[in-house]
Amino acid sequence: MIDLHCHLLWGVDDGAQTLDEALALARHAVADGIVASVLTPHIHPGRYENTRSQLEPRVEAFRAALADAGIPLAVKLGGEVRLSMESLELLLEGQAPFLGEVDGYRIMLVEFPHQTIPVGSLQFVDKLMQMKIRPLIAHPERNKAVIGDPNRLVPYLERGCWLQLTAAAIAGHFGEPPETTARTLLGNGWAHVIASDAHNLKHRPPSISEGCRLAAGIVGAASAERMTCELPARIYGLPA
Ligand SMILES: [Fe+2]
Repeated sequence: MIDLHCHLLWGVDDGAQTLDEALALARHAVADGIVASVLTPHIHPGRYENTRSQLEPRVEAFRAALADAGIPLAVKLGGEVRLSMESLELLLEGQAPFLGEVDGYRIMLVEFPHQTIPVGSLQFVDKLMQMKIRPLIAHPERNKAVIGDPNRLVPYLERGCWLQLTAAAIAGHFGEPPETTARTLLGNGWAHVIASDAHNLKHRPPSISEGCRLAAGIVGAASAERMTCELPARIYGLPA
Protein backbone atom coordinates (compact mmCIF):
# COMPACT_ATOMS: atom_id res chain seq x y z
CA MET A 1 0.00 0.00 0.00
CA ILE A 2 0.98 3.60 -0.51
CA ASP A 3 0.10 6.25 2.08
CA LEU A 4 -0.71 9.62 0.50
CA HIS A 5 -1.35 11.48 3.74
CA CYS A 6 0.81 11.35 6.87
CA HIS A 7 2.66 13.66 9.24
CA LEU A 8 5.90 11.71 9.68
CA LEU A 9 8.21 14.61 8.86
CA TRP A 10 9.29 15.69 12.31
CA GLY A 11 9.23 19.10 13.95
CA VAL A 12 7.21 20.90 11.28
CA ASP A 13 3.62 20.54 12.48
CA ASP A 14 1.49 18.58 14.99
CA GLY A 15 2.80 15.22 13.73
CA ALA A 16 6.11 13.58 14.71
CA GLN A 17 8.20 15.86 16.91
CA THR A 18 11.60 14.11 16.77
CA LEU A 19 13.54 12.04 14.25
CA ASP A 20 13.29 9.03 16.58
CA GLU A 21 9.51 9.38 16.62
CA ALA A 22 9.47 9.71 12.82
CA LEU A 23 11.51 6.50 12.47
CA ALA A 24 9.20 4.65 14.88
CA LEU A 25 6.22 5.76 12.79
CA ALA A 26 7.99 4.61 9.62
CA ARG A 27 8.63 1.18 11.19
CA HIS A 28 4.94 0.93 12.09
CA ALA A 29 3.95 1.90 8.53
CA VAL A 30 6.15 -0.83 7.05
CA ALA A 31 4.72 -3.39 9.49
CA ASP A 32 1.22 -2.38 8.33
CA GLY A 33 2.15 -3.13 4.71
CA ILE A 34 2.97 0.40 3.54
CA VAL A 35 5.87 0.59 1.06
CA ALA A 36 5.83 4.30 0.24
CA SER A 37 4.53 7.41 1.98
CA VAL A 38 4.00 10.93 0.76
CA LEU A 39 4.96 13.16 3.67
CA THR A 40 2.25 15.79 3.96
CA PRO A 41 3.02 18.45 6.57
CA HIS A 42 0.36 21.07 7.11
CA ILE A 43 0.80 23.98 4.72
CA HIS A 44 -1.27 26.45 6.68
CA PRO A 45 -0.10 30.08 6.54
CA GLY A 46 -0.55 31.75 9.92
CA ARG A 47 -0.39 28.42 11.77
CA TYR A 48 2.26 26.21 10.15
CA GLU A 49 4.54 28.33 7.99
CA ASN A 50 5.87 25.49 5.88
CA THR A 51 7.15 25.94 2.34
CA ARG A 52 8.43 23.49 -0.23
CA SER A 53 11.97 24.83 -0.19
CA GLN A 54 12.22 24.61 3.62
CA LEU A 55 10.80 21.09 3.70
CA GLU A 56 12.79 19.49 0.86
CA PRO A 57 16.11 19.25 2.77
CA ARG A 58 14.32 17.66 5.71
CA VAL A 59 12.90 14.97 3.43
CA GLU A 60 16.42 14.28 2.15
CA ALA A 61 17.62 13.93 5.75
CA PHE A 62 14.72 11.57 6.54
CA ARG A 63 15.51 9.45 3.48
CA ALA A 64 19.11 9.09 4.68
CA ALA A 65 17.98 8.25 8.23
CA LEU A 66 15.55 5.60 6.93
CA ALA A 67 18.37 4.02 4.91
CA ASP A 68 20.73 4.11 7.93
CA ALA A 69 18.07 2.45 10.09
CA GLY A 70 17.34 -0.18 7.42
CA ILE A 71 13.65 0.77 7.17
CA PRO A 72 12.33 -0.04 3.66
CA LEU A 73 9.96 2.90 3.26
CA ALA A 74 10.14 5.17 0.21
CA VAL A 75 9.23 8.78 0.97
CA LYS A 76 8.63 11.95 -0.97
CA LEU A 77 7.43 15.41 -0.11
CA GLY A 78 3.82 16.48 -0.43
CA GLY A 79 1.72 18.76 1.71
CA GLU A 80 -1.73 19.13 3.21
CA VAL A 81 -2.72 22.53 1.93
CA ARG A 82 -5.26 24.59 3.84
CA LEU A 83 -7.78 26.18 1.54
CA SER A 84 -7.13 29.94 1.83
CA MET A 85 -6.02 32.96 -0.16
CA GLU A 86 -2.63 32.80 1.55
CA SER A 87 -2.22 29.22 0.34
CA LEU A 88 -3.05 30.34 -3.19
CA GLU A 89 -0.18 32.83 -2.93
CA LEU A 90 2.19 30.06 -1.85
CA LEU A 91 0.94 27.97 -4.74
CA LEU A 92 1.64 30.75 -7.23
CA GLU A 93 5.15 31.09 -5.78
CA GLY A 94 5.72 27.34 -6.34
CA GLN A 95 5.95 26.74 -2.57
CA ALA A 96 2.92 24.46 -2.05
CA PRO A 97 4.02 20.84 -2.65
CA PHE A 98 1.90 18.44 -4.71
CA LEU A 99 1.43 14.71 -4.14
CA GLY A 100 2.22 13.87 -7.75
CA GLU A 101 0.68 14.04 -11.19
CA VAL A 102 -1.90 11.92 -13.02
CA ASP A 103 -3.15 12.41 -16.58
CA GLY A 104 -1.74 15.92 -16.85
CA TYR A 105 -3.20 17.11 -13.54
CA ARG A 106 -1.03 17.81 -10.52
CA ILE A 107 -2.72 16.38 -7.42
CA MET A 108 -2.97 18.62 -4.35
CA LEU A 109 -4.11 17.37 -0.94
CA VAL A 110 -6.50 20.10 0.19
CA GLU A 111 -7.85 20.59 3.69
CA PHE A 112 -11.10 22.34 4.61
CA PRO A 113 -11.59 23.61 8.16
CA HIS A 114 -13.18 20.92 10.36
CA GLN A 115 -16.40 22.77 11.06
CA THR A 116 -17.46 24.14 7.70
CA ILE A 117 -16.97 24.30 3.97
CA PRO A 118 -16.08 27.99 3.69
CA VAL A 119 -17.86 30.31 1.28
CA GLY A 120 -15.75 30.60 -1.85
CA SER A 121 -14.39 27.03 -1.70
CA LEU A 122 -16.04 26.05 -4.95
CA GLN A 123 -14.55 29.07 -6.73
CA PHE A 124 -11.17 28.10 -5.29
CA VAL A 125 -11.58 24.62 -6.72
CA ASP A 126 -12.59 26.07 -10.10
CA LYS A 127 -9.41 28.14 -10.09
CA LEU A 128 -7.28 25.09 -9.25
CA MET A 129 -8.86 22.99 -11.98
CA GLN A 130 -8.22 25.80 -14.51
CA MET A 131 -4.57 25.58 -13.44
CA LYS A 132 -4.66 21.80 -14.09
CA ILE A 133 -4.49 21.07 -10.37
CA ARG A 134 -6.87 18.40 -9.10
CA PRO A 135 -7.80 18.72 -5.42
CA LEU A 136 -7.76 15.54 -3.36
CA ILE A 137 -9.99 16.60 -0.46
CA ALA A 138 -8.53 15.39 2.85
CA HIS A 139 -10.79 13.53 5.29
CA PRO A 140 -14.22 14.89 4.25
CA GLU A 141 -15.79 12.35 6.64
CA ARG A 142 -14.63 14.48 9.60
CA ASN A 143 -16.02 17.78 8.29
CA LYS A 144 -19.11 18.84 10.27
CA ALA A 145 -20.91 20.21 7.19
CA VAL A 146 -20.33 16.95 5.30
CA ILE A 147 -21.41 14.87 8.31
CA GLY A 148 -24.62 16.92 8.37
CA ASP A 149 -25.21 16.44 4.65
CA PRO A 150 -22.81 14.34 2.53
CA ASN A 151 -24.48 15.76 -0.61
CA ARG A 152 -22.56 18.99 0.09
CA LEU A 153 -19.71 17.19 -1.70
CA VAL A 154 -21.61 16.71 -4.96
CA PRO A 155 -20.54 20.01 -6.59
CA TYR A 156 -16.92 19.18 -5.74
CA LEU A 157 -17.16 15.70 -7.23
CA GLU A 158 -18.86 17.15 -10.33
CA ARG A 159 -15.88 19.47 -10.80
CA GLY A 160 -13.48 16.53 -10.65
CA CYS A 161 -12.26 16.64 -7.06
CA TRP A 162 -11.14 13.37 -5.54
CA LEU A 163 -11.84 12.37 -1.93
CA GLN A 164 -9.38 10.91 0.60
CA LEU A 165 -10.88 8.99 3.51
CA THR A 166 -8.94 8.27 6.70
CA ALA A 167 -8.52 4.55 7.34
CA ALA A 168 -9.03 4.98 11.10
CA ALA A 169 -12.30 6.83 10.53
CA ILE A 170 -13.69 3.91 8.51
CA ALA A 171 -12.74 1.71 11.47
CA GLY A 172 -14.63 3.96 13.90
CA HIS A 173 -11.60 5.41 15.72
CA PHE A 174 -12.86 8.97 15.22
CA GLY A 175 -16.30 8.17 16.63
CA GLU A 176 -19.63 7.30 15.15
CA PRO A 177 -20.47 10.31 12.91
CA PRO A 178 -17.22 10.17 10.85
CA GLU A 179 -17.53 6.38 10.62
CA THR A 180 -21.10 6.59 9.31
CA THR A 181 -20.14 9.37 6.90
CA ALA A 182 -17.09 7.46 5.64
CA ARG A 183 -19.26 4.41 5.04
CA THR A 184 -21.83 6.54 3.20
CA LEU A 185 -19.14 8.05 0.97
CA LEU A 186 -17.78 4.58 0.24
CA GLY A 187 -21.25 3.18 -0.43
CA ASN A 188 -21.99 6.06 -2.83
CA GLY A 189 -18.81 5.28 -4.77
CA TRP A 190 -17.45 8.75 -4.03
CA ALA A 191 -14.14 7.85 -2.33
CA HIS A 192 -10.91 7.66 -4.32
CA VAL A 193 -8.14 7.19 -1.76
CA ILE A 194 -7.78 5.72 1.73
CA ALA A 195 -4.79 7.05 3.71
CA SER A 196 -3.60 7.07 7.32
CA ASP A 197 -3.27 10.80 8.20
CA ALA A 198 -0.82 9.48 10.82
CA HIS A 199 0.37 11.92 13.49
CA ASN A 200 1.73 9.73 16.31
CA LEU A 201 1.99 6.12 17.43
CA LYS A 202 -0.41 6.33 20.33
CA HIS A 203 -3.59 7.83 18.93
CA ARG A 204 -3.09 8.25 15.18
CA PRO A 205 -0.65 5.61 13.88
CA PRO A 206 0.26 5.02 10.22
CA SER A 207 -2.19 2.16 9.66
CA ILE A 208 -4.20 1.59 6.50
CA SER A 209 -4.75 -2.18 6.47
CA GLU A 210 -7.69 -2.25 8.92
CA GLY A 211 -9.57 0.52 7.08
CA CYS A 212 -8.82 -1.16 3.75
CA ARG A 213 -10.23 -4.46 5.00
CA LEU A 214 -13.40 -2.79 6.27
CA ALA A 215 -13.77 -0.77 3.07
CA ALA A 216 -13.50 -4.01 1.09
CA GLY A 217 -16.59 -5.21 2.95
CA ILE A 218 -18.52 -2.23 1.54
CA VAL A 219 -17.09 -1.68 -1.94
CA GLY A 220 -15.42 -5.03 -2.65
CA ALA A 221 -11.78 -6.02 -2.51
CA ALA A 222 -10.87 -4.72 -5.98
CA SER A 223 -12.15 -1.19 -5.24
CA ALA A 224 -10.47 -1.15 -1.83
CA GLU A 225 -7.22 -2.08 -3.52
CA ARG A 226 -7.70 0.68 -6.08
CA MET A 227 -8.01 3.19 -3.20
CA THR A 228 -5.00 1.98 -1.22
CA CYS A 229 -2.61 0.70 -3.92
CA GLU A 230 -3.46 1.42 -7.53
CA LEU A 231 -4.43 5.11 -7.59
CA PRO A 232 -1.98 6.07 -4.81
CA ALA A 233 0.81 4.38 -6.81
CA ARG A 234 -0.12 6.37 -9.92
CA ILE A 235 -0.16 9.59 -7.90
CA TYR A 236 3.16 8.76 -6.21
CA GLY A 237 4.65 7.81 -9.57
CA LEU A 238 5.31 4.13 -8.80
CA PRO A 239 4.34 1.13 -10.92
CA ALA A 240 1.04 -0.18 -9.47
FE1 LIG B 1 -3.40 15.53 7.93
